[in-house]
Amino acid sequence: MDDPEDGFFGESVAARYDDFSAAMFAPEAVEPAVDLLAELAGEGRALELGVGTGRLALPLARRGVPVHGIDLSRAMVERLRAKPGGADVEVTIGDFATAKAPGTFTVAYLVYNTINNLTTQDAQVDCFRNAAAHLAPGGCFVVEVGVPDLRRLPPGQTVVPFHVGDGSWAYDVYDVATQAMSSNYVDVAGDRGRFRSIPFRYVWPAELDLMARLAGMRLRERWESWTREPFTGESTRHVSVWEKP
Ligand SMILES: C[S@@+](CC[C@H](N)C(=O)[O-])C[C@H]1O[C@@H](n2cnc3c(N)ncnc32)[C@H](O)[C@@H]1O
Repeated sequence: MDDPEDGFFGESVAARYDDFSAAMFAPEAVEPAVDLLAELAGEGRALELGVGTGRLALPLARRGVPVHGIDLSRAMVERLRAKPGGADVEVTIGDFATAKAPGTFTVAYLVYNTINNLTTQDAQVDCFRNAAAHLAPGGCFVVEVGVPDLRRLPPGQTVVPFHVGDGSWAYDVYDVATQAMSSNYVDVAGDRGRFRSIPFRYVWPAELDLMARLAGMRLRERWESWTREPFTGESTRHVSVWEKP
């Protein structure tokens, strides 16, 4: 049974998270991210907002970088704790838009589209302010997130299907007025069905730059991916780095 305090990453999701996200746990996905984060951390500490089951926090800690995580979900953090080295990553349970971790950091990071889990612009701005408040001067905040996929939305339509399978269907619903969206999953097995809807707020790169400025930071780099290819009009996601003066 999922504990509502764990948000959308309760026990039932935590139990399957690493398997469902297997491609994101592959060395080719993890290593370039850990390389960049270790470089930005330097001799300092790293703060992961939405640390989850430790996909990046654990390999970063193995590189010798002290890592602290913040996460709402005890179920996800229990999975992190159960892994080798899990006890080395300190975790604060709370909302990463507002929760405080002790000490200062040379890098804070929020990856895998998790900024979109904050469903209002105010909460996303608070998150930038919270990240900046944890950084030492010269420290960096890194966000990895998709570019809003509105090119797939024909005029007059608000729904984009992204999976049509045998007994399972999934679609995104967009509200272009508020930037609210949801990802929706329908699964049918025999005569039983299940519907899940997860709310998000999509956010543009330039809007993130303004949020960073509100938090007193400036854009230092924007790449298409962790392997640092240039960000272009055709990029579908970005890895952005803002610096606190
Ligand atoms: C997609 S998972 C990413 C986990 C990990 N960063 C990774 O890359 O595998 C999102 C994580 O963020 C957490 N999360 C979502 N919204 C949150 C919030 N407002 N405050 C704290 N944690 C949150 C979830 O519980 C979950 O563990």
